[in-house]
This record gives sequence, structure tokens and C-alpha cells, in this order.
Amino acid sequence: VQVGRARRPRGAGLVSAARTSRERGATPRQPGNGPAEGPVRDTAVIRTAVFPVAGRGTRFLPATKASPKEMLPVVDKPLIQFAVEEALAAGARRLVFITGASKRAIEDHFDSDPELELMLEEQGKSDLLNQVRSVLPSYASCIYIRQPAPLGLGHAVLCAQPAVGAEPFFVHLADDLIRSDAACLLQMAQVYAAKRASILGVQVVPRNDTDKYGIVAVEADGSSTSRVRSIVEKPKPAQAPSNLAVVGRYVLSPAIFDHLEKIGQGTGGEIQLTDGIASLMREEAVYAHRFEGKRYDCGSKLGYLQATVEYALAHPQLG
Ligand code: UTP
Repeated sequence: VQVGRARRPRGAGLVSAARTSRERGATPRQPGNGPAEGPVRDTAVIRTAVFPVAGRGTRFLPATKASPKEMLPVVDKPLIQFAVEEALAAGARRLVFITGASKRAIEDHFDSDPELELMLEEQGKSDLLNQVRSVLPSYASCIYIRQPAPLGLGHAVLCAQPAVGAEPFFVHLADDLIRSDAACLLQMAQVYAAKRASILGVQVVPRNDTDKYGIVAVEADGSSTSRVRSIVEKPKPAQAPSNLAVVGRYVLSPAIFDHLEKIGQGTGGEIQLTDGIASLMREEAVYAHRFEGKRYDCGSKLGYLQATVEYALAHPQLG
């Protein structure tokens, strides 16, 4: 398996495009227009968030044949916009999307749309205009890197290396939607600030479901943050070391890239992030953090429907 293709020069196959909203002429942030920089700016130590969005979303076919799963809306907001808002709330300013086939709509969503803005302005629809303009605040920049084939989550993360460099970074899986008072990635960033090590967002799952997740065994079962002793990808319930599952939120040390490069294909012939983390743990401490919040598995039909109903009930126009 060839990895790190994103390191090729631009135009040599895999394209990496960086655009800031300022470069593309977006309107500067207005008061109340999108996530504020706010106090997190002073404490933020993690500047980059990686969004692996190159999976094919087969559980949602045929809806995902030509449209990205991450553009599925929960009421009126696509999953990937929830993801970006969460990362911005945690202090990230550089947003790296690992994209694949049929994912162009994600780039369009975070680009400005002067025609639409003009139309809404002429129609006097200022609320909608503000919503459209606040999809991406001017202080954030987007980088798009193409994963040449869906070779696994670990491979997708490895594709982000040229954009991340030698800093810790967030990984956010948009189909895990987490509703919480404090943004989940902000909670993780706070734990990172204390531990200065990789942090995995974890949740207790039913025993029968361990074969859907990476499962960790930790040193102190009862505490909200604990050092990980072992991690295994999708174990059968009988073999699972616990029922503490890794869900789609990570803070990773840049050392992970060396490990992802070294490991081979794992379960399902893919390069598994779980295997990369297991290898990283031999050199560095990795912690599991039980975040506060409710998670919806929007990669499954049932989880997506639950999220839709519960977000609709909380929506000012619908609830
Ligand atoms: P999933 O296991 O949910 O796979 O990937 P999927 O293709 O998105 O969906 P199904 O299972 O076929 O319905 C977990 C996350 O990892 C990303 C996906 O986009 C998703 O956010 N991913 C997975 C990649 O970016 N590249 C890959 O090669 C695999």
C-alpha cells in the first residue's frame, strides 16, 4: 500500500488545496455570525483538526452514491458543519478534510457563494444570509487532501501529515454527532492540556456491540480520564477487554504518523487507526477520556433518525 501520497507536488494526482475565506473574498465575521474566537484562543494548543471524510458510506446507499454521507442534514445543518463548529469551538483554526470520490459538495459547502448571497440580500432575507455567511468564519482555513482510495481510517489520517506537521492535532469523525454543553473536542483539548499526550474519546457501549468499535482497557476503570493499557479493533464480545469504546474524537500526537507508516494492513485489509495507536502506545502514553455528552451514531440509519428527532425537538421553529 502506498501511503503519504499527499506529499506529491500539486497537480501530480492527489490535490491538496488550501484556501482561506479571506483569500476567497468572504465577508468578514459579523457579531453573532458563526463561532466566536472567544476565550478558547488563549488556552488552545491544538490548531489543526482533521476530518476524514473519504469513506463511501455504504450503510446509507443509495443516498450516498453521489452525495457525501457527511452532507446529510440533521434538521437543517449538514453533519460536517456540526463537526467544523465543534473543532472551531475547541480552538482549531486549520481544517483538514481528507476527501475521496463523490465528496465535492463538502468543498462547495465551505466555499463562499456570492450569487446565493446576492440573491438573499436582494430578497431581504438577512437571517438566511447570516447563516450562509457564517458557515465558515474568516479566521479559519480549509485544506483538502484527496485519499486516492478508501484504504482505511489510519491511511486517511496519514494522508493529513503534510498539512499537520509536527504538532498535536484533532481527528473528528463527522458521523459521530455529540451533543453536549461544552464541545466534545474542547473537553478533549482541556485533557490534552493537562496530560500532553494523545487522548481518545471513549464511551461505554453494550457488550454485544464491542465488535463495532475499537475497544480499550484502561488503568483506572472508574475515572473519567485514564491511561490506556491496550486497544483492540472490533473484538468479539467474548474477547473484548472491556466495553469502553473509542468513538470519533481523538487528540493525536504527531508521532502517530511514523507508526501509521510502519504498520501494515489490519482488519478488513485496511490500515487501521487502532493499530497505529496500539503501536504508538509502545512509545508514548495514550489516555482515554469519557467525555460529557450524548453521542448519536449518524453513520447508521437508526442513530441518524434519533439525532434528527432529538435535534428537531430542540429546534426553535420545530420543538
Ligand atoms: P466508517 O467505518 O463509518 O466507513 O468510517 P464509511 O465508509 O464512512 O461508512 P460505511 O460503514 O460504509 O457505511 C469511519 C470514518 O472514517 C472515514 C469515513 O469517512 C468515516 O468518517 N474513512 C474511512 C476515511 O476517510 N477513509 C477510509 O478509507 C475509511
